Amino acid sequence: MSHAEDHEGTRRDFLYYATAGAGAVATGAAVWPLVNQMNPSADVRALSSIRVDVSGVEVGSQLTVKWLGKPVFIRRRTEEEIAAARAVSLDDLTIDKGAQNANKPGADALDQNRTLDEAGEWLVMIGVCTHLGCVPIGNGSGEFGGWFCPCHGSHYDAAGRIRKGPAPRNLDVPVAEFVDETTIKLG
Ligand code: FES
Repeated sequence: MSHAEDHEGTRRDFLYYATAGAGAVATGAAVWPLVNQMNPSADVRALSSIRVDVSGVEVGSQLTVKWLGKPVFIRRRTEEEIAAARAVSLDDLTIDKGAQNANKPGADALDQNRTLDEAGEWLVMIGVCTHLGCVPIGNGSGEFGGWFCPCHGSHYDAAGRIRKGPAPRNLDVPVAEFVDETTIKLG
């Protein structure tokens, strides 16, 4: 082997290792996002939280958004609705006295334990009847000025509490908060 050939061989070895090294780095970069995507908590986190712009929701109207496959009612209540809902005592709530509010576990169903803000203007609820899962009709429907489920005739009041009919529980209030003046974060 001449001196020149020996030198050439060494250079090839160097190039080979350098290429293998670059390949390993590239593979690592490709594998990481894949592993990251398979991480269920990252997946669930991305899906389980959404932000809703409520700047266009007028007093006395309701925005319905889809979240985790279910309708969510975001109602901006009128002064009359707030007053009516706040006038209801626990004794009036003969079917379910629990707030069913994920933000206030164990609280009773007084109106202030159901609403998102202290003034009681905003009410956020899963729009699924607690009887067999139909979507209740809103805008002051039913005998108690809130929501009415046409499937089997359940009546919910202006705080989404079950007052009459086969449904056994108040409409569920999901984890929610205002992240700024016009944005509600669900989850
Ligand atoms: S599903 Fe609503 S009353 Fe039965």
